[in-house]
Amino acid sequence: MKIVVTGGLGFIGSHTVVELQNSGFEVVIIDNLSNASIKVLENIISITNQAPTFIKLDLKDKAKVQDFFRAHQDIKGVIHFAASKAVGESVENPLMYYENNINTLVYVLQELNKLEHSNFIFSSSCTVYGQADTMPITENAPIKPAESPYGNTKKIGENIIEDICKVTPDFKAIALRYFNPIGAHKSAKIGELPIGVPQNLVPYITQTGQGIREELSVFGNDYPTEDGTCIRDYIHVVDLAKAHVVALQRLLNDNNETNFEVFNLGTGTGSSVLQVIKSFERVSNKKLNYKIVDRRKGDVISAYADTTKANTVLGWTAESSLDDAMKSAWNWQQKL
Ligand code: UD1
Repeated sequence: MKIVVTGGLGFIGSHTVVELQNSGFEVVIIDNLSNASIKVLENIISITNQAPTFIKLDLKDKAKVQDFFRAHQDIKGVIHFAASKAVGESVENPLMYYENNINTLVYVLQELNKLEHSNFIFSSSCTVYGQADTMPITENAPIKPAESPYGNTKKIGENIIEDICKVTPDFKAIALRYFNPIGAHKSAKIGELPIGVPQNLVPYITQTGQGIREELSVFGNDYPTEDGTCIRDYIHVVDLAKAHVVALQRLLNDNNETNFEVFNLGTGTGSSVLQVIKSFERVSNKKLNYKIVDRRKGDVISAYADTTKANTVLGWTAESSLDDAMKSAWNWQQKL
């Protein structure tokens, strides 16, 4: 079965390609290499011993997207990762984010909608909940106004897909709302490759541990949490990748209850920034240089998932602990 993975050389995309191949799918990767290296392709092949088809294509080019889908009529589904994801950059340059994340989504959906099999998995985010009123966060928690254009593209993306599903019974889609993906493949052949200074916590920690960065800034320790630092739900990227395979199979087997479904993907456990630092220190046997600085604008206090729906309906559960994920991130950093 031929599956298209857009953004398939990125962090979550590459791990998902590996899991798809391990499950017997034939994978076609589309990536414009704007935030990924072509070397990732070789590394995927060296893990799975199978070569996915790779097509360098920028989804902003509508004509090329049309050509691609015309040439691949036998596609059984699309997993759509291709998008920009830096929150701060999106505030600086909203139009770029709407073009990169919304125009491209529309072009892909227009073409997929013409095919016989319209199965679509969308990379969404817990950012759609903003600061949720109660923890853990269920899929029924209210969607809050987005804090950033990036967050807004996830919310609008879900709305667009849901609107199509309402009027197109044959179109089936699942939006997966990720909490905080971290870690790397156990082979340490693929992992997160931030360009420049990492914006996210775990790559910043591992680069500091490696001596690439002098010290980590912890953004605020005066939040109303046990140790004063923000709480997040850090999920191993391989667990997350496996959830995509399960979600895709649900659509392919017609097991979905409605043609638009949403699932939270997290571990269900919240960890504070200081707990994440302690986890790094445990698995690396190193002390981390860090200092407490002011809060970062736009950070929510706490976000962790109620995973009941994914566990019971999808039949998927995150298996790795924070330490497992951190260990894999550290192995990857050392290999880099
Ligand atoms: C953010 C987005 C999320 C997006 C993700 C991908 C929001 C609310 N969340 O997640 O939607 O998918 O980025 O880029 O927009 N921290 C530090 N020091 C650092 C870096 C981070 O203390 O140098 C802290 C943050 O304050 C936060 C936690 O670590 O409490 C996690 O931050 P980060 O890894 O950036 O993820 P989110 O902000 O949760």
